[in-house]
Amino acid sequence: MQTLESSINPQSDEFRGNAEAMMEHIKTFREAEQKVLDLAEAAREKFTKRGKLLPRDRINRLLDRGTPFLELCSMAGYKMHDDKDGSMAGGNIIAGIGTVSGIRCLVVASNSAIKGGTITPAGLDKTLRLQQIAKENKLPVISLSESGGANLNYATDIFVQGARGFANQARMSAAGLPQITVVHGNATAGGAYQPGLSDYVITVRGKAKMFLAGPPLLKAATGEIADDEELGGAEMHAQVAGTAEYLAEDDADGIRQARNILEALPWNEQLPPQREMKWEAPVYPAEELLGVIPSDSKKPYDVREILARIADGSRFLDFKNEFDDQTVCGTIRIEGYSVGVIGNNGPITPAGSAKAAQFIQLCDQAGTPLLFLHNTTGFMVGTHSEQNGIIKHGSKMIQAVANCRVPKIAVVIGGSYGAGNYAMCGRGLDPRFIFAWPNSRTAVMGPAQAGKVMRIVAEDKQRRSGIDPDPKTLEFLEQATAKKLEDGSTALFGTARLWDDGLIDPRDTRRVVALVLDVCREAGIRELRPNTFGVARL
Ligand code: COA
Repeated sequence: MQTLESSINPQSDEFRGNAEAMMEHIKTFREAEQKVLDLAEAAREKFTKRGKLLPRDRINRLLDRGTPFLELCSMAGYKMHDDKDGSMAGGNIIAGIGTVSGIRCLVVASNSAIKGGTITPAGLDKTLRLQQIAKENKLPVISLSESGGANLNYATDIFVQGARGFANQARMSAAGLPQITVVHGNATAGGAYQPGLSDYVITVRGKAKMFLAGPPLLKAATGEIADDEELGGAEMHAQVAGTAEYLAEDDADGIRQARNILEALPWNEQLPPQREMKWEAPVYPAEELLGVIPSDSKKPYDVREILARIADGSRFLDFKNEFDDQTVCGTIRIEGYSVGVIGNNGPITPAGSAKAAQFIQLCDQAGTPLLFLHNTTGFMVGTHSEQNGIIKHGSKMIQAVANCRVPKIAVVIGGSYGAGNYAMCGRGLDPRFIFAWPNSRTAVMGPAQAGKVMRIVAEDKQRRSGIDPDPKTLEFLEQATAKKLEDGSTALFGTARLWDDGLIDPRDTRRVVALVLDVCREAGIRELRPNTFGVARL
């Protein structure tokens, strides 16, 4: 493998300008995240008075000390639905991959500090994505639940799809994935099935309220008068109904018991002892990733500059670099794991597509996971490209991405436009994980081009109808279309819609990719013990 040599000067004004622009992007998304943290923190007094822990404190207690927690989809629903100012992003759920009692799990906590942890359309989509992550990566799921159920302002948007989450739970149980739920508070109506469909349930005394209909609804529906405790209290479920296996004294005790359940599982015993991995750090510091990306997104740069800062020892085995240099393929190691990389140095040409398709097949043959680093304006257009079979070769690349069996991880580091997004394993091509840098842009095409296309189409239509084109109207149409695409292509816009699993600081790329590679490795060797119907609580 060749050790990459960077041609970037970190002392140059250009580098400093790039780094400042990148820091601005990072600041924007960190501030957006902070707003959500602040809103939840504002509920601390209310939670303390009620003898409860805040959802993030619950997670902190659950996780093994000093182990990483990879938070997922933290900005889901940002400025969507009733999240007017971005402070309620995250879909009222906090979730991520973490280690509990030495076992890697998917952790999902209702963010009951915000809107009572109610389920929003974005929260539902996030839940479905999290379940897919758990299934694909064979992760046990721990839920720290406290939710007012459906957000009634958006009930029609979530009602039908909501059942999918329950079906997934049933299928995960049948697949052999343990689901452990601590009920910390409200679990009403649909919310009661989430613990109901879990394999292990812990209820917190005096706090859990798990019923299909609470006292007001019951009175309205049947006239019966009953209180919270007899209808769905923790003791009732543990002692009478049998919905709960374990009764906890408070939030902290419930979390301790969830850790105990995990500890009792022989989950890691079937895995072979992990071989000792040794690796070298990249020759170039991760900090320099800030200044590598030109602040002017139209300016090209060599994706190998990124590889030099994320690969072990900055080493890279460049594949067919004489054949096409716009699509860069080759092998690196990240914290010891071999990974096939596909990156872009420009549009994807017919030769680039063919090269990438072949490289993907080689990785599939060898069992090497793939890492896609998106920075492309899309497939090359024009007569030359068409005559060289761009549709045929591009289709081959998409086909290879769609059908390959190795884990596919994607990071959107720059532009991700048009079918280039598909060919580089955008969300629609089912990457195992996809993250985005905060400077990135994802759209069907560049805003300026989209504006011009609409202008030309409208102008031609007017001429055909015998109308003299009005330059002012056309200008307005061009600008409005461009603005719509501009606003709809930012990293925050995309992450709100779950086009990715979260925004990451470029400097964290190596750590994040290494972690998910390890998750994929573990899933690859783990044998589950599936049955047909899941575990029923009889
Ligand atoms: N839909 C939409 N918004 C809801 C909601 C729901 N089902 N339940 C609560 N909210 C909102 C409240 O309007 C309030 O909004 P605000 O912050 O803008 O004032 C916020 O969530 C917090 O509610 P609040 O009642 O102040 O908090 P709490 O911690 O004391 O109680 C609940 C939380 C969830 C227990 C309580 O609000 C409740 O019982 N909600 C109704 C639950 C229900 O019947 N759901 C049926 C779903 S099928």
